[in-house]
Amino acid sequence: MTFDSPARKPAPGPGKTFRVKSFGCQMNVYDGERMAEMLEAGGYAAAAEGVDADLVVLNTCHIREKAAEKVYSDIGRLKREDGSRPTIAVAGCVAQAEGAEIARRAPSVDVVVGPQAYHRLPDLIARAERGERAIDLDMPLDSKFGALPKRAGGQRPTAFLTVQEGCDKFCTYCVVPYTRGAETSRPFADLIAEARALVAGGVREITLLGQNVNAWDGEDERGRAIGLDGLIRELAKEDGLERIRYTTSHPNDMTDGLIAAHGEVDKLMPFLHLPVQAGSDRILAAMNRSHSVESYLRVIERVRAVRPDIAISGDFIVGFPGESEADFEETLAIVRATQYAMAYSFKYSRRPGTPAATMDGQVEEAVMNDRLQRLQALLNEQQQAFNERTVGRATRLLLERRGKHDGQLIGKSPWLQSVHVTAPGLMIGDMVEVRITSAGPNSLGAEPLMEEVA
Ligand code: 5AD
Ligand code: SF4
Repeated sequence: MTFDSPARKPAPGPGKTFRVKSFGCQMNVYDGERMAEMLEAGGYAAAAEGVDADLVVLNTCHIREKAAEKVYSDIGRLKREDGSRPTIAVAGCVAQAEGAEIARRAPSVDVVVGPQAYHRLPDLIARAERGERAIDLDMPLDSKFGALPKRAGGQRPTAFLTVQEGCDKFCTYCVVPYTRGAETSRPFADLIAEARALVAGGVREITLLGQNVNAWDGEDERGRAIGLDGLIRELAKEDGLERIRYTTSHPNDMTDGLIAAHGEVDKLMPFLHLPVQAGSDRILAAMNRSHSVESYLRVIERVRAVRPDIAISGDFIVGFPGESEADFEETLAIVRATQYAMAYSFKYSRRPGTPAATMDGQVEEAVMNDRLQRLQALLNEQQQAFNERTVGRATRLLLERRGKHDGQLIGKSPWLQSVHVTAPGLMIGDMVEVRITSAGPNSLGAEPLMEEVA
């Protein structure tokens, strides 16, 4: 679908600069990187920090209202002092959910492209150059991944790798099944090839991504049906790849094999992001989560039995329609029972087109604020306590970026904590053996035990 756009300015072509701004989940970060790689392959250069770009891609998030509204203010801010503006492409889930609405509300947008069609971005930009407004919200059956340039690894030692997309769970509050489409798994061979390319380019840690990553399934090279645990076991054989993580998981897809992998695969890091959303079976049923409090706790118990030090993370929604004070207290109870290392918590946000948006019993803002504050106070306490429990431990860090102070680097612990360490000669990408010496709510301090360990 294309629209003629009224006021035009020259659109960029090869030799011009671009900026991709990604919002929301890690899948968007991954998509943003793939779009950047594609633009670079087409002759664009990433705009330097602080310099206006000729093309700006806003890779948007639709999960909550605030995230979606942000797009419009960001578009407004792209106008330059002299009144000109870059070529603007809106990608991601807001594009998918509100395509035509964006065209109406923001006439300065040149390209609107959904998350399953962004491999066509260069073509859409070319159409914009010809003065069209190009909108592509297709969910083509052939995967976009085959059409993207091959990966080469980057400057960083860590990378995301999307293995699964979309969701068939249809939780009643969630837009993902509508914006990202049906659950699909990328083929095993493609994933091994992409992982090898990343490792050859210097990547030492890969995080496997999917809206329901543990629903991934495929066939290995001998044609045997495998699940995410099989993929993890194969990836663990790759020399040079030191660490494997995965996110986000659904409690119902925590298979026996995946749980066992946490006890058996050394390269699989002791961290599990397992959203429960609420602690009341009544609310979980209204959310269509299709698991209970008890089944969730049972999964946690089984994972801890094979990997006692595992860090558990989660997502919570407070104020889902019909949530009473007693329901909410059950959420506090499941948090106490689980003991999280970290977690994300949100006020319920009414998303148009989802079943919960029209349910009775919408909860007042003031009540949601109060519940969120109480929940976050408890989660923060648990996060601090988890961090303190790691003080004194010897562990390994993968150094990811520079810290504020001279010679200081920040790395991740196996439990995904940010840890500061200062020592001469350390470099980004090194694995260092350290002892954790201090713990704050969001980061820890450590001292090195020895030089780089192989
Ligand atoms: N309102 C609030 N939070 C939501 N999430 C998803 N949809 C909504 C919504 N409508 C949260 C869930 C999910 C995380 C990615 O975002 O907790 O796990
Ligand atoms: Fe949304 Fe539920 Fe699917 Fe997660 S499992 S993406 S919350 S519908």
